[in-house]
Amino acid sequence: MPERRNILITGASSGLGAQLAREFAARGRNLALCARRLDRLEQLRAELLAAHPGITVSIAQLDVNEHARVFTVFREFAEELGGLDRVVVNAGLGKGQPIGSGRFDANAQTATTNFIAVLAQCEAAMEIFRAHDAGHLVVVSSMSALRGMPGNRTAYAASKAGAATLAEGIRADTLRTPIAVTTLFPGFIATDMTAAGGRAPLQVSTEKGVRAMVRAIERESATAKVPAWPWVPIGLALRWLPLRMVAAISG
Ligand SMILES: NC(=O)c1ccc[n+]([C@@H]2O[C@H](COP(=O)([O-])OP(=O)(O)OC[C@H]3O[C@@H](n4cnc5c(N)ncnc54)[C@H](OP(=O)(O)O)[C@@H]3O)[C@@H](O)[C@H]2O)c1
Repeated sequence: MPERRNILITGASSGLGAQLAREFAARGRNLALCARRLDRLEQLRAELLAAHPGITVSIAQLDVNEHARVFTVFREFAEELGGLDRVVVNAGLGKGQPIGSGRFDANAQTATTNFIAVLAQCEAAMEIFRAHDAGHLVVVSSMSALRGMPGNRTAYAASKAGAATLAEGIRADTLRTPIAVTTLFPGFIATDMTAAGGRAPLQVSTEKGVRAMVRAIERESATAKVPAWPWVPIGLALRWLPLRMVAAISG
């Protein structure tokens, strides 16, 4: 497996993105970190450089819904670091309300951030990777992408299914090339996003969840349910359960 020295992470100001940055910094990788909250990124950069003075950490303020800026920021990061070896498309939103309940605004925001902006990030990353015929694209989907989900998760799950299908299509496009594509399907991992909905069943700590994500990323698996236990068997069950049971356990 080629060592991916320069790693860009979107949504790095909190939760999984920030912890991924800590894990890769501990492995000596250079980082390009972006999100809307620049103060959080500045704090994280200071923390990472204090612990690992040998690495480079570039940061940039980026709203992934400003699509033209996504391309500009990714190119600027590539110039600053002398190339990008891996891009983790992680920025995402857990907002959503039942369909038809008058909250098209929240559902549209979720769909736009979790799918259209993911498309912009994948396009920007793949332009850079195709130019060098090398790179590793990682898309953070969700276990909820495996089936239609009721209630507040309907638009979220659909947007994450879209992101996973997009990543699979890019993988189909780059088979037998040096470009690798990984889709991650995290289960419940403690972050600001999961805190908003109260403690979820089977939830693991940010550290444990992100260690599982990093193992899957470093293996460059095509797809990975993370952590594997219990989410691999749950994934199998989700595929075959009747919808009324899916609705009952995930509602
Ligand atoms: N935690 C879980 O259990 C879980 C499970 C499955 C999938 N996921 C996925 O994992 C990813 C990270 O989520 P998390 O759990 O770590 O939640 P989080 O702590 O709320 O982090 C979300 C990150 O996305 C960034 N973000 C949101 N909207 C953005 C925008 N318009 N432009 C740029 N950045 C934006 C946020 O940064 P700013 O607000 O500073 O912009 C933040 O850094 C998401 O894609 C989520 O759907 C999480």
